[in-house]
Parts: sequence; C-alpha cells; structure tokens
Amino acid sequence: MVKSKDIHFRICNDLLERFDSALVYEGLNKTEVLTHAIRNFCAQVESQKMNDVKRQYTVNDHLQVRIDTHLKYEEKPVDLDKIVISQLQVTAQEKILDIGCASGKFLITLQKLGHQGQLTGLDQSPTMIQEAKNNSSNKRTIEWVIGNATKLPFPYNFYDWVIARHMLYHVTDVEKTIRGFKNIIRPDGGFLATTNSYVSLPRIEEMCNRMLLAFGLPEKSPTASPFCLENGKELLSSIFPIVEETVIHNSLLFHESIPIVNYIASMFPSLNIPDDFSLHTEMKKWLQVEIEQVLSHHNGIWRDPKAVAIYRCRK
Ligand SMILES: C[S@@+](CC[C@H](N)C(=O)[O-])C[C@H]1O[C@@H](n2cnc3c(N)ncnc32)[C@H](O)[C@@H]1O
Repeated sequence: MVKSKDIHFRICNDLLERFDSALVYEGLNKTEVLTHAIRNFCAQVESQKMNDVKRQYTVNDHLQVRIDTHLKYEEKPVDLDKIVISQLQVTAQEKILDIGCASGKFLITLQKLGHQGQLTGLDQSPTMIQEAKNNSSNKRTIEWVIGNATKLPFPYNFYDWVIARHMLYHVTDVEKTIRGFKNIIRPDGGFLATTNSYVSLPRIEEMCNRMLLAFGLPEKSPTASPFCLENGKELLSSIFPIVEETVIHNSLLFHESIPIVNYIASMFPSLNIPDDFSLHTEMKKWLQVEIEQVLSHHNGIWRDPKAVAIYRCRK
C-alpha cells in the first residue's frame, strides 16, 4: 500500500509544455484553468471530509465508548454537562439549540431538570437523531432535526442560546459556520462551545500512529485542527464581543490495556481504517500486546494528559 508521505508531486517539463500548448490551442487562460481545478479539488476534499464524519457517526457505539471511557478513567472526575448548565445560567424558559447533539443526552438532561422553553437538537447523523428520539419519550417534546451545521434551517434572531459541544472541530470553514450560528441567536442571546486541546491524549495518539505504521497504513496527518483550545478564544473573539474561556486540565489514567484498546478501536473509522473485521481483530491483538508492554515499562500506569475548553460568548 502507498503511504501518504511517499507520494510526491513531480510534474515533468515535457508534461508542462504539453499543458501550455493545449491551453494555447484551446485559447484558455492558465490562471483561470488552474483556479478552477484547485476549486474543484478543494470541493472534493471537503465532501470527502464530510463523508469521513458521516462514517464516524453512522453508529452511536463508537462515540459512546469514548464518552464512557472519559467518565470512568478521568483522573479528576468532571461533570461537563453540569458545568455547561451552570454556565448557561438559564431560567428554564429560554429557547436552546444544541448543534451536533448526537443522541440528545444534553437536552434530555436539561428537560429532566425542568427546562420549559423550546429545545431543539440538530445533528448530521440520522442514526444519532433516531437515538435521540428513542431516548426522549417525554411528553414535552424536544424538536430533533437532521441537518448540517453549515446550512442551518432556522430563522434569524431566534434562539436565546446556541450550543456546539465538541463538534466544531469537524467543520471545515469554522469561522463562517460560527457566523451562521450568530445569525440565529437573539440580540441579547449567547453561544456556548466546548472543545479539546490540540494535544489531548498524546500517548494514545502516538500508539495510533505506531499501529497504522505497523499495518502499512498512512499515519494520521497532523492537520491544523480548525477549532481547539489553542485557537478557540482568538477565533470567537473575532465574532462575539464578549468571550469567557474556562480551561479544565485533566488526564485519563489506565492500569490495564483493554479500555485503551477499546478507545483506540472506537476511532478506527476516523483513522480511515477499512471496514474489515479480520483486520480490526488483528489490530486489536497488536494493540493489546504493545500497550501491555508499555504498561509494564511504566509500573502498570498509563497517564495521558488532556484539556477541555468551554467558551461562553454573548452576542
Ligand atoms: C464528538 S460528537 C459530540 C456529541 C455531543 N455534542 C457531545 O458533546 O457529547 C460530534 C457530533 O457532531 C455531529 N456533527 C459533526 N459535524 C456536523 C455537522 N457539520 N453538522 C451537524 N452535526 C455534525 C456528529 O454527527 C456527532 O454526533
């Protein structure tokens, strides 16, 4: 299999000359043709990225494994839902939209706490929205919408709060997307986002890359994360006049290999690993051996630092 780092672009002079003469023959402008080709290429990359996100969230199990692992193995127990709810300072009447709501747990918790105002959850994954519907059997219905954060089907100046928890790092044009969120927030309303540090769980990340290398697959490319602790405040401050940042430093602490293996396996779709059951089994076996070796070299302790940022913005 070809590794991404082995792919080089070498355009030979002969080809360039043929390209030039073809343009002259067709009477075309080189800059315009190249601009058009680059635009097409970018559109293809964007649609491929959206497909990757779709692939990651076609089932809820993977996300649930990661949520459960964080809950169970966090060194310092942190209830993010509770912190977000206290930061919203809601009176129970506000209209709230949760973008990237997944299986709807956050809005369902708000409703159980007695929230009366209109609650809407939007997610691009039909599976997640179906789960959210199944999870919310309450008579006071929450509105669940399948949709894309970049094309919101809601009126301007409508919501008191728009929330985007751990989802903006999936979006390509993050600034434009947040400006779209701002449009549907009422003049005195707010926006709340959560995200991770760019360097969260470095040991798990390193193990993923070692595994990909061992199986001849391209390493996870160190893409510039479009929305993370390192750029979140600056980006949001260019859109909202008031931005408050809260950072929580923590770690995942493991004493056995299985939960780490399961965590990494839950990321197989986002690591672009083919859907091949026997390959997955081989990879999990490989991971278990490697992780047990690492644990034995570190007195049976695997500590992986992470940080979460919460941004509370006013319009
Ligand atoms: C990491 S999960 C976070 C789920 C939930 N907000 C939480 O904090 O537990 C990201 C969610 O965002 C959704 N998502 C990703 N990109 C999206 C987009 N462009 N539009 C709508 N939803 C999106 C995914 O389908 C997934 O359910």
